[in-house]
Amino acid sequence: MDLVIIAVAMVQRYTRNINHVARSGMTKVAVLGLGNFGTALAKNWLDAGMEVVGWTVEDEVYTAVRDKSENTKYLPGLALPGMGISMQIEETVTGTDIVVFALPSAVVLDVVEQTLPFLQPEQILIDLAKGLAPGDQLISEAIEAKLSAVNLTNKVCVMMGPTIAPELARGVYTSALVTSEDADVAANMAQTLSTKTLSLAAGTDPRGAELWGAFKNVIALACGVVDGLKEDGRGGDNLKAAIFAAGYREGVQVLPALGAQQETAFSAAGIGDLFVTATSPHGRNREMGERLGKGQTLVEAEAAMVMVSEGVRAARMFNALCSAQGAAAPFVGIVCGLLDDGTSIEEFLVQVMKL
Ligand SMILES: NC(=O)c1ccc[n+]([C@@H]2O[C@H](COP(=O)([O-])OP(=O)(O)OC[C@H]3O[C@@H](n4cnc5c(N)ncnc54)[C@H](O)[C@@H]3O)[C@@H](O)[C@H]2O)c1
Repeated sequence: MDLVIIAVAMVQRYTRNINHVARSGMTKVAVLGLGNFGTALAKNWLDAGMEVVGWTVEDEVYTAVRDKSENTKYLPGLALPGMGISMQIEETVTGTDIVVFALPSAVVLDVVEQTLPFLQPEQILIDLAKGLAPGDQLISEAIEAKLSAVNLTNKVCVMMGPTIAPELARGVYTSALVTSEDADVAANMAQTLSTKTLSLAAGTDPRGAELWGAFKNVIALACGVVDGLKEDGRGGDNLKAAIFAAGYREGVQVLPALGAQQETAFSAAGIGDLFVTATSPHGRNREMGERLGKGQTLVEAEAAMVMVSEGVRAARMFNALCSAQGAAAPFVGIVCGLLDDGTSIEEFLVQVMKL
């Protein structure tokens, strides 16, 4: 009998959590990190009538949003009417329904840690960063571990897809996948956070979305090498397509062994994000490859780039993970050879064309 009462109470609590966002009149979103992506998302949600409050550690961003309703540092000229702004996490997240972490993978876990004391159980967390956290966990898994370490049960979603921030900000139609192991939470978030121009689909494979989010950077880096070879005539779209196909094939074969669901490869978080990352001139991983293709060393290329290319770290991470799992990943191995083992560009091309 006691067990029945506990079960009913759990179902009621769970239902309350799920319905919270749908029931409230106006969805309230906290966006932690007001760089390019956080600001672009905030713009979409403000335009859709949601209440948005942003958190930043940058005085310049704080002052610009407070005084001009504009993030002059990251997306100048973009109006953010009615947006709240704070430099304190408690003030930012209190009273919101959804807490979005729009931060680089290197800092997101620190900010999650700082946020834990202020979370309410019904708040849903959305992670936009991907990759490997210390201890070989994916970032979303590390967030879950941090929550459970302090007995919090907030639902965590991962949002991934072809979402170049300046395009999203100016209203270019954009799609992405919102995933949670809890299908109802994913569906609720996809519906709640979709706007006229941001189309979110629901999925139940956060691990797969995050694995693809990291793996596509390795392929994009390899595709970028081709752009670096265009001037001397060796590069071209035929070659880029061959590398793109070889990398994608390897992802489809290998990522399920690391825990991804097969269908995530065909979603916005898989082939969609890969396409945009490998082809868009905005992509920092593609740019890293282009620099290597032009003859720069990895050290020179890293020093010349303002933003970090996550594909370098991802290539090393997948090489280690696949070796540990006994999963053959020759494409990743060839990219690591170029990055770390002195493989020449010519040899890289010969190897990759044999796959
Ligand atoms: N830009 C895109 O098009 C895009 C698309 C999809 C996913 N993402 C992901 O979204 C996340 C954010 O990307 P972005 O492009 O907005 O990055 P960005 O470099 O433009 O902005 C990063 C933000 O993090 C903040 N930040 C940096 N170090 C910090 C620290 N130590 N403590 C607190 N805040 C700190 C900065 O102030 C800034 O607000 C990343 O994980 C990225 O991979 C970006």
